[in-house]
Amino acid sequence: MTATFDSLAPTYDAHFTQMAAGRYVRQQVQQHLLRRLRPGDRVLELGCGTGEDALWLAQQGCHVTATDVSEAMLAQTQAKTQATGRVTVLALDLQQPHAASLPYTPYQVALSNFGALNCLTDWRPLSGWLAGHIVPGGRVLLVVMSPFCLWEMLWHGLHGDGRVALRRLRGSTFQPPGAAAPITITYPTLRRLTGDFAPHFRRRAVLPVGLFIPPSDLYAALETRPRLLRWLAALDERARWPWLALLADHYLVELERTETPA
Ligand SMILES: C[S@@+](CC[C@H](N)C(=O)[O-])C[C@H]1O[C@@H](n2cnc3c(N)ncnc32)[C@H](O)[C@@H]1O
Repeated sequence: MTATFDSLAPTYDAHFTQMAAGRYVRQQVQQHLLRRLRPGDRVLELGCGTGEDALWLAQQGCHVTATDVSEAMLAQTQAKTQATGRVTVLALDLQQPHAASLPYTPYQVALSNFGALNCLTDWRPLSGWLAGHIVPGGRVLLVVMSPFCLWEMLWHGLHGDGRVALRRLRGSTFQPPGAAAPITITYPTLRRLTGDFAPHFRRRAVLPVGLFIPPSDLYAALETRPRLLRWLAALDERARWPWLALLADHYLVELERTETPA
């Protein structure tokens, strides 16, 4: 797993973060997050990748602990955020979070954006550990790849590739372009994810992220069609209903740390 993400790190920003569609979906998450943040908040980021959100959070006046399992991703985060003086970069494996020693505790907010949590198969150990590091009333924003991405099912279904069209329903092992080795991805339903976090966290909000925006393997095609992307984004802005969340490429779930078991 680590080797795969290490090998993706040098091109991750070019293939996702800096693509127009990638910038659009990240903005959707950040707009939501902004309503939960106050300057000076301590934010724990899980699976920070190349540090794009860590940089943005630091620019909002937050103190960020940016964590990831991949040293190559962390090196990019360090380079991107060093000048802010507000980001601590730390190796943390979501499979064994207890092994890491955090610089602060507790945090007001935790964030895991764009699929880091899809690399787990059971979210209960993470939930139990996280509960010890978030203040009562604090928020946890999880953005995960959905199990029923409508775009993917229609696009690959219409192109006669039923196996890819339905891959999220069974979970999948695949090798992203440019990756050193395959990775196994699980696509939790909202019910499963909320249930695994339920002993310590209460669900507060759910949103689709990119309902009308195709998955990232089609971003390059959109790059040369800015008018099409603007049109899709305009539709997307109007369709931010929770009941459509599981049909988008990603969905956002916002949890609140409860004082006592929910
Ligand atoms: C798709 S990237 C998302 C990166 C970033 N959050 C973003 O918004 O661009 C998934 C990230 O999860 C990290 N990851 C995968 N498995 C992990 C694990 N077990 N523990 C910590 N991070 C992990 C990867 O190294 C990668 O940086």
